[in-house]
Amino acid sequence: MDLLQFVRGCTFDDFLLMPQLGVLPSRDPATVDLTTRFSEHVTIKRPLVSANMDTITRAAMATVLAEEGGIGVIDRGFRAGDIAPQIVEVATVKRTQHGIIADPHGIEEDRCIADALQTMDRTGVGTLVVVDAEHKLKGLLTRRDVRFVAPHLRVSDRMTPRDKLVVHTGPISLTQAEQVMTARKIKKLPLVNEDGTVSGLITAKDLIKHQHHPFATRDDRGRLRVAAAVGATGDYLERATEVLRAGADVVVIDIAHGHSQIMATAIEQVRKRHGDVELIAGNVATEEGARFLVDRGVNGIKVGIGPGGGCTTRVATNFGVPQVEALARCRMAVGDRVPLIADGGVKRDGSIAQALLFGGDSVMLGSAFAGTAETPGEIVLKPVLMPESQKVVQVPFKVFRGMASIAAVRDRLDLEEADPNEVEALGAEGLEVSVPARGSVRSVIQDMLKHLCSAVSYGGALTLQELRQKFATDPERYLVRLSPASRTESFDR
Ligand code: XMP
Repeated sequence: MDLLQFVRGCTFDDFLLMPQLGVLPSRDPATVDLTTRFSEHVTIKRPLVSANMDTITRAAMATVLAEEGGIGVIDRGFRAGDIAPQIVEVATVKRTQHGIIADPHGIEEDRCIADALQTMDRTGVGTLVVVDAEHKLKGLLTRRDVRFVAPHLRVSDRMTPRDKLVVHTGPISLTQAEQVMTARKIKKLPLVNEDGTVSGLITAKDLIKHQHHPFATRDDRGRLRVAAAVGATGDYLERATEVLRAGADVVVIDIAHGHSQIMATAIEQVRKRHGDVELIAGNVATEEGARFLVDRGVNGIKVGIGPGGGCTTRVATNFGVPQVEALARCRMAVGDRVPLIADGGVKRDGSIAQALLFGGDSVMLGSAFAGTAETPGEIVLKPVLMPESQKVVQVPFKVFRGMASIAAVRDRLDLEEADPNEVEALGAEGLEVSVPARGSVRSVIQDMLKHLCSAVSYGGALTLQELRQKFATDPERYLVRLSPASRTESFDR
């Protein structure tokens, strides 16, 4: 079967998938292997990515995504030229410790308790390592040690001194740390080098969190992974440098038209400055576009021109490729050389399975996460007329907007004062909508994973990768093209 020919002009709602003999013993996401690659060197256990949009992914969203086995991409939609706010978001995710805290906040022993309290409040941590001028461990100071204590007292008056602490010298794994902490009945384990300088801190709270999130996407120090988006003009090089310094695991050069000369220059410049940093680029939707990026040495490609829920590119320009066709084209072009991120157009959970079969290694979601508690932005109450009772009730809403919407562009360029017509003249290609506020994104993700496991089962496979392989080998066996009537039967609910 010529898959490209078959899917030409088609997108998610044009197909169903033919059920196969089920072999999966359980559809429980805890037992089904959904492992995939986000980029060439970053593996994720669940194929979900939150979109780099300023109403979707900041630290709270990226933290939950990583805890649940996916990854979030922190948007660059902060004021142009102001890099600091994005850095704060990246650093916040990296400090959401679930492992060894490699650079725990410290304080010198001759400082006063008021200083220690200030450091605790500023950093949000409850334990400080007490160090001397050479950064050698002198003790530990916890919030409990400073409660109801005269602020002028010295840190050394209240800390637990080193000789009363259990301290580990040299490297240690989290499993070994857990054994030590259980055996010695301690909640904190400071780590030191041979010369006594502090090399880290492990807390029982972090170890418990580690166990609670067995699928979490972590770096080799046990910290949650996070990606950060930059543009291809303006402050992008400095932004890339700063997000990497803050600990970002992947840089995503994200522009609307990734198959372009400015993208080529941006990739070249980022590579020149940062060598083999993990680099994703996009968006593209054609074979030429995907090859263009692979040939320039990227480690991942974002695929999708115009399918996004907050996007008006196709309406405004008439350019774009239906998302299923775009995925098939890009997959055909790059084979297995680099992972593809299927970006945009997922309106129901079933499309996640399709995006992964037609070419995506992972799926990037924006509107599907809109309105959840972890999205940035205020909740606004709006009067809504209830059809059944004919009563007006106040319903909580949050804003979801395309990154090229007038409001997002205006915020980025600091154009609050500008004439809206002038902003419009910048070429807005995005919508701003209100969506009902809902609970945590964690339960949305859980539902998606359950549905994806069911898809693996219906597809006659034991793992996501096996399903993708079976589909790639014999797509004809799976594909059902829908008539308008069968589409109505399938999706009109
Ligand atoms: P969904 O469908 O999940 O798509 O909401 C998320 C993706 O939409 C893209 N995006 C835009 N595309 N104009 C566009 O043409 C915009 O204003 C815009 N904002 C977001 C983006 O690729 C995102 O990941």
